[in-house]
This record gives sequence, structure tokens and C-alpha cells, in this order.
Amino acid sequence: MIETAPARATALAEDVMRRRTFAIISHPDAGKTTLTEKLLLYGGAVQLAGSVTARRSQRHAASDWMEIEQERGISITSTVLAFPYRDYLVNLLDTPGHQDFSEDTYRTLTAVDSAVMVLDGARGIEPQTLKLFEVTRRRRTPIFTFINKMDRPARHPLELLEEIENTLGMATYPLNWPIGDGPDFRGVYDRVSGMVHLFERTEHGAKQAPVRLSGIEDPTLDDELGEERAATLREELELLDLAGTEFDLAAVLAGNLTPVCFGSALTNFGVQLFLDHFVGMAPPPQPQETSNGDLIEPTNETFSGFVFKIQANMDKRHRDRVAYMRVVSGRFERDLDAWVPRLGRKVRLSRPMRLFGSDREVVEEAFAGDVVGLVSTGTFTIGDTISDTDIGTFPPLPRFQPEHFALLRHTRADRYKQFLKGLSQIEEEGAIQLFYPVTTGSREPVLAAVGALQFDVVRYRLESEYNVETALDPLSYTAARWVSGDETEIATISNGRGRMRAEDRDGRPVILFTTEWDLRYAEENAKEVTFSALAEV
Ligand code: G4P
Repeated sequence: MIETAPARATALAEDVMRRRTFAIISHPDAGKTTLTEKLLLYGGAVQLAGSVTARRSQRHAASDWMEIEQERGISITSTVLAFPYRDYLVNLLDTPGHQDFSEDTYRTLTAVDSAVMVLDGARGIEPQTLKLFEVTRRRRTPIFTFINKMDRPARHPLELLEEIENTLGMATYPLNWPIGDGPDFRGVYDRVSGMVHLFERTEHGAKQAPVRLSGIEDPTLDDELGEERAATLREELELLDLAGTEFDLAAVLAGNLTPVCFGSALTNFGVQLFLDHFVGMAPPPQPQETSNGDLIEPTNETFSGFVFKIQANMDKRHRDRVAYMRVVSGRFERDLDAWVPRLGRKVRLSRPMRLFGSDREVVEEAFAGDVVGLVSTGTFTIGDTISDTDIGTFPPLPRFQPEHFALLRHTRADRYKQFLKGLSQIEEEGAIQLFYPVTTGSREPVLAAVGALQFDVVRYRLESEYNVETALDPLSYTAARWVSGDETEIATISNGRGRMRAEDRDGRPVILFTTEWDLRYAEENAKEVTFSALAEV
């Protein structure tokens, strides 16, 4: 059958509308991995939950420099999980969750249309939740909140909502309301359908949780919960209706209001309800602006995308790099000759992959919201625009402020060239930044990273991939700022005690500061100099 242009456009719109591309933001231990497993379980992507963990160890076995992950029992690298759920196609971009996370974690958030914030019901907002939230806030990403671990003693739901509102400056709307917590956690009242979901404690975890439904006025509820608890529940709900925020989808989509669900990922309580609400409310792939200000709609028939992450040598058998590209518009097809403005030439995308841990599967086609892994030996860099025909470029991705600094020395002069080559390749992947001290005139770089673990990764990789041994001298700086403006004033500011003047790889001036207090002092007293926490790549 010959496809007509209008039919093709409708099909494209349908493919776009069913996609939901998101990432989970959370503090380590809040339950991100567990929730991911359970989402896959409900998505039918795995028969038994637990496969994500299994996949992890599989991936370890297949990687070499990532032995470091294995030693520490953490996950540094991220993957993309795609699974169909009801009429939707869900793309979950996995962000590394360990405390020592890297810029990758942040940058992944530039490739999603929404984010799920997982909080531990006993802990509320924690430092890493806040950091990640700040990145999503800059892009006004819609946030859906899942308050986890309600099967353990938790803080009062109202107190948790208040904390979200006060700390994040975002209104909340509880889509459901927990019935008890800890050993008394019985289920949730779903405010959307007006139904009570009572969960049965059976052998939970690996299988979907059995659920019984009943209306709030149903007298059997008093038998189930006891009269007093049932009455309290009814009162709380009445209060919420009277005093709580109105639900406003536009505010959700603008990132000003977060819908909140309570549950327990471990025992599957409330996971399916959350997923149902999430896919129904979360936005489909959004248009993206180019540097010229043109808006590229996801349904635009011209294929376009951008690279947000580069990963090297995931698999010992493949000495190559994978560039992760988020599709912005059109239909991506295998073997496409794509235009890459930075290179000023076309590149054939002959090995597009979907990656699941160490498994690779060739992608034949993809649409806006999808993530495709492009395997190459170094053609792409972070922030690259890739398109069918020239649509201009998408704006550069931000570089996030490093918080850890160390001087890196190579210990053998005869490997200097390899040292530089290795470092520049690792920097291109965007996991660390390099600053060159100006005052000392030394070309030995300062490594700067968002998480200190990246230092170990760099040293490990230099040794195993480039045969270069290095030594690391930690530095006490905690912040870097790009500076611009009056040259004399920049010099004066850099000379301050506990500061260092450096340049990034493009020669842009940077000042390193030892304390947050000193940084603020310098910023407040600067006259003709502007400070910027972000540079663009
Ligand atoms: P993360 O990816 O956010 O770091 O958290 P992860 O899912 O690994 O969960 C951290 C710990 O919290 C795990 O326990 C996990 O089982 C537990 N957990 C997650 N969700 C819930 C929940 O809803 N209720 C309860 N009670 N616990 C939950 P662990 O002992 O560190 O690991 P494991 O031995 O259970 O794997």
C-alpha cells in the first residue's frame, strides 16, 4: 500500500503522542531502582521484578573499566529502558543514583519531557533530590512525585507536602492519600476515581499486588479499617478537598504543581496507580527551540535530534563509543545520511542501537522522545545536533558546576602524549572537566567533577585504556565560576587568598574558590565582572 502524505503525518503524530520520556530523580536509597523494577513489572517488560538488578551484574561482567562500579557496588553508567504500557510507549532514562554522581546524571535531565521524583516517606526532600530538582526547574520540567516506603513508619503526609512546597517552591496535589503507614499501611484512597484501594499483604515484591476496591462511603470500609480509622480518613479527605490546592493540569505541565502519589515500591503498593496517572498526565515529546529561535515540533517530518551523553567502551569486545541521541522530531531510520553541523558534513548512521545494559539491539526506526545509541569511534560529541536536512543547531547543553577538584599528574614523562590524548577523550565524553591553572603556568590540569568518584574512574581508565599511570593531589576548592568582564578586576579577584585562576579547554577564564562564603563575597563585591555557574558545550 502506498502511504499518502496526510496518512504519514497522522501516523507520525500518533507515534509521538503515545511516547512518555522521563527520568527519576531521587536521593540514594529512596527507592529509585526498586521503583524502576516495579514499573517494568507493571509494564510487562519483565516477568519477575529483580531483573534490573540481575541486568546490572550482567553488565558488570561484560564491562572492563566498570569493574570499579562492581567493587563499590554502585552504578555509574546509565541506560535507557523502553517499554510499552497500555497505549503508551514509556522511555525511562536511568540516571546514576549514587551520591558520587557525575555530569551525566544532570545532562540526562536535558533529554526528558518529565521527571518522577521519588522521596523516602520518612526522610522527605534530601540533598541530592534538591540538586537534581534544580536542574529540572531550569527547564521547567513537569515533576511527578512518588512518596515511597509507606510500609515503613513515615512522616505525616501533610508535613511531607508542606516540605515539598516550602523547599521546592512548587504547589502539590495529592492524587491519592495513604491509609496509615508502617505496619498499619493499608492502601490508598485514589482522589481521581474516588475509590479506596486496599492492598493485600501477600508475598509481595516480585508479583503485581492484589488490590480490592471500595468507595469511601462503603460501610465495609469501617469493618476493614475499624470505625475510627475510617472516620479519620474521611475527615482528612474532606479537609483536603476544602483546604488543598485545586488540580490544574496546565500548572503541572508548566512545572508549577506536582501531582503526588503515596505508595511502597518494595511491596508494589500504589505503583500501578501511579503509573496509570503518570502516563495519562505526563506530556508527550515537546517541541525544541533551535539556536535561531525556530521551534522544531516533534511532528515535524524532518528528523532531528541531539547528543546528550557519550559513553566509552561499555563492552570489552567493542572498542568504541556510544553517543546517546534524543530524537526531537521526525522519523529516524537506520542508515540515514544525517547532517551534523559541527562537522559540516553528512554522517551515515548505520549502527543505531537500543541499549539495555550490555545488550545491544539494532534500531530500525525511532520517533521524538526515543533515545538511540549511535556507535562510533568518536564522531560525535555532547551537544551535537543531528538532522535530516539542515535545521540549524539546538542550543548547547550546559556544563554543570563541579564541586570536587584535584590536580592530576602523570608519573612517567614518556607517556605524556597518551596522557593528554586520554584526558581529552575522557573530557569529550563530558564526565569531567579540565581546568588549566594560569598562575602556575603548569599544563598539568586540574580535574573538576560533579562527583568525586569520577576521579577514580578517570585514573582507572587512563591506566587500563591508555597505559598511563597518574597520581592525584586533591585540592580544597569547592566551586568554580566562569568569569567575564574587566580583565584587571578578574586578575585582582583571582589573586584573593584561597582562589585560583584557571582556564577551561576553550581558554575561557575560570576562578576556583575554596569556600561558598568566599565565592559569595567575591560575587557581591564584583563591579565589572560577571560570574557564571554554567558554561555551555
Ligand atoms: P536507590 O536506587 O534509590 O538507591 O534505592 P533502592 O531501590 O536500591 O532501595 C534502597 C533500599 O530501600 C533497598 O533496601 C530497598 O529494598 C529498600 N526499599 C525500596 N523501596 C522500598 C519500600 O517501598 N519499602 C521498604 N520497606 N523498603 C524499600 P536494601 O536493604 O538497601 O537493599 P536490598 O537488600 O533490599 O536490595
